[in-house]
Amino acid sequence: MFPTFARNSRRYLSKLPDKLSTLAKFNFPLATNTIKAVTENIDEFINKKQKVTLNGHIHKKSRIRPTLSFGFLRDCDGEEVQFIANDATESRIIDTMKSLTVEESVSVTGYVQAKQLKEGESKGWELVLNDIQVLNSSNIDAPRLEKLKQTRPEDLPPQFRYLQLRTAFYQNSLRTRSRIAQLVRNVLTDEHNFVEIETPLLFKSTPEGAREFLVPTRSPKQFYALPQSPQQYKQILMSSGFTRYFQIAKCFRDEDLRSDRQPEFTQVDLEMSYVNSSDQVMQVVEDIVLEVWEKIKQINMYTVNEDGELVKVEDAAKRVRLSKLDYLTALQKYGIDKPDLRSNISFNSLEKFFTAVEDLAFPIVEACVLKGAFDPKSKASKPPKAFTSELNYSRRRPFVFMIRSEEDAENWYELLLQKHFMKSNNGADLQRMHQLLNLLPGDILAVSSRSELPYENPTPLGKFRQLAITEFPGKWQRPIRSANGLIEIYNGDKTIVGSWVVDFPLFNPVETSDNINDPYPKYDKNKFESTHHPFTMCKSEDYDLLETDPLKVRGEHYDLVINGVEVGGGSRRIHDATLQQYIFEEILHVNNYEQLFGHLLKALSMGCPPHAGLALGFDRLCAMVVGTSSIKDVIAFPKNQSGSDRVVESPTAVDEKTLNEYFITTKTDS
Ligand code: AMO
Repeated sequence: MFPTFARNSRRYLSKLPDKLSTLAKFNFPLATNTIKAVTENIDEFINKKQKVTLNGHIHKKSRIRPTLSFGFLRDCDGEEVQFIANDATESRIIDTMKSLTVEESVSVTGYVQAKQLKEGESKGWELVLNDIQVLNSSNIDAPRLEKLKQTRPEDLPPQFRYLQLRTAFYQNSLRTRSRIAQLVRNVLTDEHNFVEIETPLLFKSTPEGAREFLVPTRSPKQFYALPQSPQQYKQILMSSGFTRYFQIAKCFRDEDLRSDRQPEFTQVDLEMSYVNSSDQVMQVVEDIVLEVWEKIKQINMYTVNEDGELVKVEDAAKRVRLSKLDYLTALQKYGIDKPDLRSNISFNSLEKFFTAVEDLAFPIVEACVLKGAFDPKSKASKPPKAFTSELNYSRRRPFVFMIRSEEDAENWYELLLQKHFMKSNNGADLQRMHQLLNLLPGDILAVSSRSELPYENPTPLGKFRQLAITEFPGKWQRPIRSANGLIEIYNGDKTIVGSWVVDFPLFNPVETSDNINDPYPKYDKNKFESTHHPFTMCKSEDYDLLETDPLKVRGEHYDLVINGVEVGGGSRRIHDATLQQYIFEEILHVNNYEQLFGHLLKALSMGCPPHAGLALGFDRLCAMVVGTSSIKDVIAFPKNQSGSDRVVESPTAVDEKTLNEYFITTKTDS
């Protein structure tokens, strides 16, 4: 749809461009100020009629009128200012203004004068032009895209990412990202004595969870792999005498894209040796995130106290300041291992009263009540579509009931008995069940089933809870306990609630479902895979279970969850080569572990100290600080849904000759 510059410009390339006009583009006055700097000291500039030079892009098409000609400049902060010509302006300047096209880069010089203000404007200024120089023209696409740029810059075609990036939102996003990176470096190096070390990007193919990107070499059948994370190198660094390592590291995973996932992303990766508890890592990580929120956004984080209330983290006088939530409780109460704890919606187990019978591996009936979700006197007869749409659930949907009357509150379960979804337990005291749920007209009730040890994550109710939080923003918020004991009302979007999720199962049974849409996933409980990665140590209390019941073993793993987003994850590691070997061989049945992980086992066996670490998803952290739900907004050149970068049009096919050099033969699709 939009011709590329290369195609358009081919006809110019036969001749050397005109010397005078080309070289003129390289000779121009430097900016004396930014628009922001002038705005901040507006009175001084106006009083002194101070002359300034500003460099930037033409933001909107100029208006040339007999009485007043004006145009708009946008500079490096994405800020805009109007420049004007007056009676004294030379005609060559008016001529240049006439020829201006949006998005051209220009240098303008003039003096600052107060602007005639429109209603509602408190202060304003404009630049009276003394000179204007076009430093580079923009091609024909710029005016065509103009309308889009003014209304929704994010909708500009992705091949014009640079036009998106020129706008205030993206300028702010990437500048905030840069400030966060700087701050992270300062906290880690100045306050905690970490050393920044780069590890190779040309790594070797080893299974670590996701699918890898392979890099061919000019030796037959030899490939590098891009690292999914610097996990193994950082552990080898612990064996290399560096007791505190960090890196702002590029990671690569060939997995399905979502708004919080990119195939190429960045981690703040860190590792510490001679630590004897996860708490030491948590403290460092808390220092990073608390400082990021405080310094960049001037806000304190909240966490959840023992009474289920939110408290400012500064009030929580503990070594590890964010609360800890264990995996099982998270799954039982919220149906997900990264619950949004701003909301106090939680679940009740109905296992004392009913047993789910549709799939015997999923016997536990659980319920979630949304109190006062609708007006029972209204005509509304169906729950919000989001709650029942199949598209919103990866497998089965929960049963959702609108409790419109006392009768509904008493009888809702009869339908589920009729449908043979569940059966009543012998002697179940249903009166107690009613007391537990305390249903009233106006409530929405969702009911579903889960397995004993929930491997499904999120469970159907976990997904329902997320949908409820989105569907009813600000409702069912957790109360805040302030220092003087009052419960405050607060703004959900500006409230940042962090927590550690701990005690994950070290292993999961291997999923064997043939069809990803089967309502109930199937597992082979005799085959195990690591919940995170195979290098995580188990909890000492569970050591013997490694031999007898691996699925019951909990790992020394911790995730940092903020407002329902998994911002980071880490663990204490196995630094004992023999134990690591046992895990590979006896539990995970990695037959060729010597070939895959021999390098790590050797490094561990050479007196590697005990160590632990974590990686923060840097893009996710930046997106939260900027206040966007998509990490694409904080990445200069993200990949699209099909993994392509539309600016450079990667990936591309390569010619046969190159493929031959890499000993690659390609197959056409069958
Ligand atoms: P993990 O795989 O949990 O741990 O990754 C750490 C954090 O990185 C972020 N993240 C991503 N961000 C964007 N796009 C992706 N595709 C993506 N995948 C992960 C998440 C996640 O919490 N080596 C371990 C860390 C350790 O044990 O020290 C690791 O990589 O925010």
